[in-house]
Amino acid sequence: MHFQTAKRISGVKASEIREILKVTERADVISFAGGLPAPELFPIDEIKAVNQLILDEAGQKALQYSTTEGFPALRQWIAGRMNQRLGTDFDADNILITHGSQQALDLSGKVFLDEGDIVLCESPTYLAAISAFRLYGCRFIEIPTDDGGMIMAELEKQLAAHPEVKLIYVIPDFQNPTGRTWNLERRRQLAEISAKYETAVIEDNPYGELRFEGEFLPAVKSFDRLGNILCTGTFSKIFCPGYRIGWIAGDKEIIKKYVLVKQGVDLQCNTMAQMAIAKYLQMYNIDDHIDKIRETYKKRRDLAVATMRQTFPANVTFTKPQGGLFLWVELPEGVNARDVLTKSLKQNVAFVPGGSFFPNGGKENTFRLNFSNMPEERIVEGLTRLGSVLKEYIS
Ligand SMILES: Cc1ncc(COP(=O)(O)O)c(C=O)c1O
Repeated sequence: MHFQTAKRISGVKASEIREILKVTERADVISFAGGLPAPELFPIDEIKAVNQLILDEAGQKALQYSTTEGFPALRQWIAGRMNQRLGTDFDADNILITHGSQQALDLSGKVFLDEGDIVLCESPTYLAAISAFRLYGCRFIEIPTDDGGMIMAELEKQLAAHPEVKLIYVIPDFQNPTGRTWNLERRRQLAEISAKYETAVIEDNPYGELRFEGEFLPAVKSFDRLGNILCTGTFSKIFCPGYRIGWIAGDKEIIKKYVLVKQGVDLQCNTMAQMAIAKYLQMYNIDDHIDKIRETYKKRRDLAVATMRQTFPANVTFTKPQGGLFLWVELPEGVNARDVLTKSLKQNVAFVPGGSFFPNGGKENTFRLNFSNMPEERIVEGLTRLGSVLKEYIS
């Protein structure tokens, strides 16, 4: 049977990460590829307890359909947390619960993008955001970045040249893939520039809570005068990704549009999962849990960076992120990270080549390393093996 599929699906390729992740399921592979949290930190006993409790206390309600907007107590908690942490001014009606923040990105495509629209994003940016937006037929203009975040003069240049731009997509905290964090001034400037051009901004923030050192910075949203900035968030990295619970937060009028769109997608998120998380937040101190995650990841980052300093060739550079799950490696010009990956997979070590994080291609001499998922001894062993591959390959 030859299916006549929609035009939008014809150019869609398998995500490189998903393909690499298939290899990494083998137990002998040391994987720095996925964005997986440390599974040993999932609070399994607590999750058992809260599930039992909600079934005992509100079983019928927990198993019934519920509202598209999401479980009120959870939306209330999220609004309070964002106000306290990020300097926003939300209440529960500003929040829509989504199937992970990934669904919030897809819904953003549905709400904002028509065929041929332009999305401005950091160069490089999150691969699955590129995939989500691309399905709506948009094209991307990449804005160069440095250690302080997106370069604002370049952003303004593009907005002046293309005032019809629909969306600016950014990840200011411990960015995926680079691990970099925007400084305060850039956050303020993005809010100002996007207001000047009346352009919507999606501020994607799955990692902000996982800071190892330095001051927490206010969200770009906290400088929003116009109501053009939307924020996404998630329980995936501070609790567990398996529940698939995230959110989008923004002005009530635009959130109502997201609600309408979500109704056509899946009606609502899993009632039981939302109630379980809300119960967990009521019964336990999530800050203690997040502290444990931060401590573990900081140790892993330190170990990764120390091992790379010892074993990688001197002309290979890398970021040392202040939080999050990833760091970013640059090889000398002309070296292709995909070729390095082929060699390193022979040593049972996996990572993600950087090229696919650039929506318009290029920069094949880069790759992303995840440091949250592997236990300490495997980090040292895997990066030492990778160091040998690089030395052999580069010199
Ligand atoms: C920048 C960014 N946004 C969104 C997501 C989606 O996460 P989730 O759907 O689990 O909330 C991820 C996952 O790794 C990510 O790195």
